Amino acid sequence: MTSSNSLTVSSVEGFSSKLTVPGDKSISHRAAIIAGLANGPCRIRNYLPSEDCLNTLRAMESLGVECDYIATNKHGPTEIMIHGTSMSLSCPPNAIDCGNSGTGMRLLAGILAGQDFESVLTGDSSLCSRPMGRIIKPLKEMGAHLQSAGEKEGCAPLIFQGRSLNPIRYVMPVASAQVKSAVLLAGLFTKGTTAVEQPATTRDHTERMLSDFGIHLSYEGNEISIEGGQTPEACNLDIPGDISSAAFWLVAAAAKKNSHLTIRGVGLNPTRTAVLEVLHRMGARIEQSVTNRGRGELAGDLEVYASKLQGTEISGAEIPNLIDEIPILAVAGALAEGTTSIRDAAELRVKESDRIRTVVANLQAMGANVTEHEDGMTINGRANLRGASLDCFGDHRIAMAFSIAGLFAEGDTFIRNTECIATSYPGFEEDLSKVCGVKLK
Ligand code: S3P
Repeated sequence: MTSSNSLTVSSVEGFSSKLTVPGDKSISHRAAIIAGLANGPCRIRNYLPSEDCLNTLRAMESLGVECDYIATNKHGPTEIMIHGTSMSLSCPPNAIDCGNSGTGMRLLAGILAGQDFESVLTGDSSLCSRPMGRIIKPLKEMGAHLQSAGEKEGCAPLIFQGRSLNPIRYVMPVASAQVKSAVLLAGLFTKGTTAVEQPATTRDHTERMLSDFGIHLSYEGNEISIEGGQTPEACNLDIPGDISSAAFWLVAAAAKKNSHLTIRGVGLNPTRTAVLEVLHRMGARIEQSVTNRGRGELAGDLEVYASKLQGTEISGAEIPNLIDEIPILAVAGALAEGTTSIRDAAELRVKESDRIRTVVANLQAMGANVTEHEDGMTINGRANLRGASLDCFGDHRIAMAFSIAGLFAEGDTFIRNTECIATSYPGFEEDLSKVCGVKLK
């Protein structure tokens, strides 16, 4: 890990800068997994060398996938030749450690459930307390022999005994791209058609990537079906920058007087851009120019100019498409004029931390007027934030959201245990210094 253990941020003047953010986390996990199942070598560019995605890559390597690292930066590989196994994985020598990553664990569970060998998925204490029942249920319905051995019921470690799977039709009770992806990936290892119905649209990177690899999917309303027995056709992928990482800078530049920022090569998949719609509603001036419309994921440049932000309501079907951006949108709400209400977001309670509790606690510590609800929060904005000594509760997005809040506070904001930032955004601290002129202490 390259992050320091704590970060001190103080208020800065308006800034003008250009940056690119690292590769998309959701897409990087999927690239490692789907390329590892493909029928030949796949060159993956702009892989995210974060702890979460490196754990998924190591998991695939321990399942017999050979990887050549073509380019690396100081955090890890960014360009990789993944030699697909033609759907033929091998028994891992040890338990697979997913670290902090819910996406890694849930997607890998989808492919491990239908193998003819035993395997174990485990992770850090945060991951081993997150709900896995949501994938255990459909995978068991498919015939998986799978046991949760965690201290908490329905939690990791997950133990898989080799089994063959049957296709099912599954109606998901929660809108979760991870659950949808686990079932679709498991469906590849069945004989027949597996269908998943989602209660609301969730990020569709798995479906898009499977299509790029020549896998046929069919759609009817909110239901997606996959025919088992297909092998992904090897192809090359370019991973765009992660809009969830870009969101920190969008809020910083939109709210900081006299600022202007260009972020290049950001993923603009429509199931991920709700954060832009919310910021527009709040009065932010953000211009988009699409640079890649072809095969693969939509990507482009974002240009953001300082403006006066106003409060807004964020709720309903919008929530799954900006779930990871809520901590930084809550910070935007505290900096905006008027009230920002976030509802229907109870899923935040089972992320890397209970993000309703941790966002509210830190905003209150900085002097903001916030009320906690079971499914969200109400923020009365335009408080004069004051610097505070904050915990990030082992949660990367809390650490980054409150680093940005610190740019607007009177006095120093001290954030402890910021090494978790490396799970999704290695190099965030350097970017904070480069973009906003924060002097790293
Ligand atoms: C992700 C889906 C979301 C999101 C997570 C990444 C994915 O979780 O919060 O950070 O890559 O599929 P859920 O599927 O639990 O909603």
